[in-house]
Amino acid sequence: MAIERTLSMIKPDAVAAGNAGAILQHFEDNGLRVVACRKTQLTQAQAEAFYAVHAGRPFYGELVEFMTEGPIFAQVLEGENAVKAHRDVMGATNPKDAADGTIRKLYAESIGRNACHGSDSAENAAIEIAFFFAASDLL
Ligand code: CMP
Repeated sequence: MAIERTLSMIKPDAVAAGNAGAILQHFEDNGLRVVACRKTQLTQAQAEAFYAVHAGRPFYGELVEFMTEGPIFAQVLEGENAVKAHRDVMGATNPKDAADGTIRKLYAESIGRNACHGSDSAENAAIEIAFFFAASDLL
């Protein structure tokens, strides 16, 4: 088993609802250590850049608008197979398909407003971590 790091975001819906603390607790309860964390509000340019891979998809505009509507928490999580472990804790992208006890089942309302984001590969994790954090922030 490899120790990995992944980029996690608590999205504006979950922050506004006061669920950020509970979600961070889920990560720690599932063996994911928080090695960096910051609260920030994405600009339109930042949200467009972060989700550039989805540019051209029908939901892209809606996604950028949602991700800029209020503050988010960005965090780097570390643990064994952290990319997959984090995605398992989050549950399926669409909360209708998410397993009981997962963050999206508990806190998300729709596929668009789905409470959290996680890197989908170790390669993308490195890119997404660098989007928010300097190496000296990772403790
Ligand atoms: P996330 O893991 O942040 O990665 C891309 C996001 O696009 C995804 O979560 C969803 O919030 C959003 N998304 C994916 N598919 C759709 C869709 N069909 N309609 C609206 N938003 C979507």
